[in-house]
Amino acid sequence: MIGPGVDTIRWAADGRAIEILDQTLLPREARHIRLEDAAAVIEAVRALRVRGAPAIGVAVAMGLALELARHTGEPRAAFLRRVEETYALLLGARPTAVNARWALDRLRGVATAVAADGADNGVIACKLYGEATSILEEDRAMCLRIGEHGAPLLPDDGLAVLTHCNAGALATAGIGTALAPLYVAHAAGRAVPVIACETRPLLQGSRITVWELARAGIDATLITDSTAAAAMAAGRVGAVLVGADRIAANGDVANKVGTYALAVLARYHDIPFYVAAPASTFDAAAASGAAIPIEARDGGEVRGGFGRATAPPDVAVFAPAFDVTPAALVTAMITDRGVLRPPFAPGIAAFTGADGVASAGGDPALNT
Ligand code: MRU
Repeated sequence: MIGPGVDTIRWAADGRAIEILDQTLLPREARHIRLEDAAAVIEAVRALRVRGAPAIGVAVAMGLALELARHTGEPRAAFLRRVEETYALLLGARPTAVNARWALDRLRGVATAVAADGADNGVIACKLYGEATSILEEDRAMCLRIGEHGAPLLPDDGLAVLTHCNAGALATAGIGTALAPLYVAHAAGRAVPVIACETRPLLQGSRITVWELARAGIDATLITDSTAAAAMAAGRVGAVLVGADRIAANGDVANKVGTYALAVLARYHDIPFYVAAPASTFDAAAASGAAIPIEARDGGEVRGGFGRATAPPDVAVFAPAFDVTPAALVTAMITDRGVLRPPFAPGIAAFTGADGVASAGGDPALNT
């Protein structure tokens, strides 16, 4: 087995629901919950029960398929309207991870094509189920390939890989993006330690990353976010490796807030800064990071924590969920199709098909 051996998201055995590991319960409890319709999926995405860009994409795709399967008895026009309405609701659950749009577009494309062929509602629902299952399985395969492409870049001198938030198995349907190279290296017998930032305010690093690394038997050290500079200055960090929620055409990277600060620190300390992401995370339509919508979180998450108020109740709070790291600070991008190095724009254009090169199934020339 490679990775922590836990299902982030799967179909229920009766095929009538999705089961997700409720990540809000970690690390106290590892429990799967059942989601039976799109409304339940939207609630789970909003509440971060299922989170991480690739996992959000998989969840909304499965949610759309699930919802349509419940309404095959509707008149044709109402059923097709439901495809559009549910698409929009699921897309609006969280705005930054582009994987949601990528996955929902795939399902809507299938629905449109099958409907144009005159198939009945039941057949359309069945095809959507199949497409969502493909997205789930492809995500697993993409994670593994990211791991294989990234493992050779990991430090081999005992220094740690510093990571932020959770871009591991629990952010995907497979073994993760940023953590995938570590799982592949570990399976090959290499011991690469990890330093995990706790990632205030929702603590995805301490609650989730450290939990899954421990399950996989990887040596992990937890730090507060403000300790990253000290860890680098102490010579403990050989590379920074993070995931992404959306990568713009010019290579700017939106990821969990705090990522940008780590990239600046890494540049100052001459430490490579790697971003790991699958094809579904690249957005050719966003020219730069300025075009990426950044989710605003409720200030209450910063005013309180650990079960109690940690600030005066009326203090103003600035709480973006993500920040944008300029492409100039990124050493390389580890993708499922190979390693992109600067300048990123031409590689991303080939990768996404924005230069007219078809991306599906192709393996554009990457500067590995
Ligand atoms: O708010 P979250 O927990 O969904 O944020 C997740 C991240 O920022 C991850 O680093 C990103 O989605 C990449 S996951 C493979």
